[in-house]
Amino acid sequence: MAHIIDGKVISKQIKDELKEKVAQLKTEGKEVCLAVIQVGNDPASTVYVGNKKKACEYIGIKSLAYEIPEETTEEELLGIIDKLNKDDSVHGILVQLPVPEHIDEEKIINAISPSKDVDGFHPASVGALSIGQKGFVSCTPAGVIQLLKRSNIEIAGKECVVIGRSNIVGKPMSMLLLRENGTVTICHSRTKDLKEVCKRADILVVAIGKPKMIDASYVKEGATVIDVGIHRDESGKLCGDVDFDSVEPIAGAITPVPGGVGPMTIAMLMNNCVEAGMN
Ligand code: GUN
Repeated sequence: MAHIIDGKVISKQIKDELKEKVAQLKTEGKEVCLAVIQVGNDPASTVYVGNKKKACEYIGIKSLAYEIPEETTEEELLGIIDKLNKDDSVHGILVQLPVPEHIDEEKIINAISPSKDVDGFHPASVGALSIGQKGFVSCTPAGVIQLLKRSNIEIAGKECVVIGRSNIVGKPMSMLLLRENGTVTICHSRTKDLKEVCKRADILVVAIGKPKMIDASYVKEGATVIDVGIHRDESGKLCGDVDFDSVEPIAGAITPVPGGVGPMTIAMLMNNCVEAGMN
């Protein structure tokens, strides 16, 4: 029986710690402020943006909502970002992705000042992470590190296998595990003998985007398994990239879906906002 790593409890702990910090900053006359920009009204984005606003409210961070129409031009959006970059009362800027097709996502990410890049998506933030300099770290992988640390799971010297090489999860996840002195292997769609590589892992982080793909045959007994995926199965129930019922009996520790990695992403976004507010 694996230890179930409870992302709801750990994310609540982090948010409560941040709430105290924000209250302290208020006594010093500093109000932390996050600007959230949503272009169009993609229903999933509306839910995510709503959750971010709620988390801000809980912690005491001021949130500025820019809900702008689908037809907004790239130039107009860049204009809003420029204004927010120059506004000293705004500490974090987040453009909810995806943006409509007529807007170049890369241009938008590059336009946000690295000092306000609370998503950690700017090339300067990604570069800083890879060479050990200070900068904002992508929230989901940062959340995974917190889950491990706060569950007393040692990373240093451990075989860490990350499945997935996305810019937002797989790559920064690997750099963070390396920063914590793990021995890191990155797997992807062209990896040969995926099962054999995964079976070496003391810590297996799964971010492949395929429902329930990783079963017990990929997992070493006693390993820690972190599931970054989120899907709905045939019966409409939420599930991850890991087949929980198959893996849980042999893992040492495992994150459930929902209630594992998911709640950590927003907690770490809030953490980045507070850090931005302290600068
Ligand atoms: N869309 C889905 N996840 C994210 C995220 O973490 N940040 C932003 N900006 N957009 C997203």
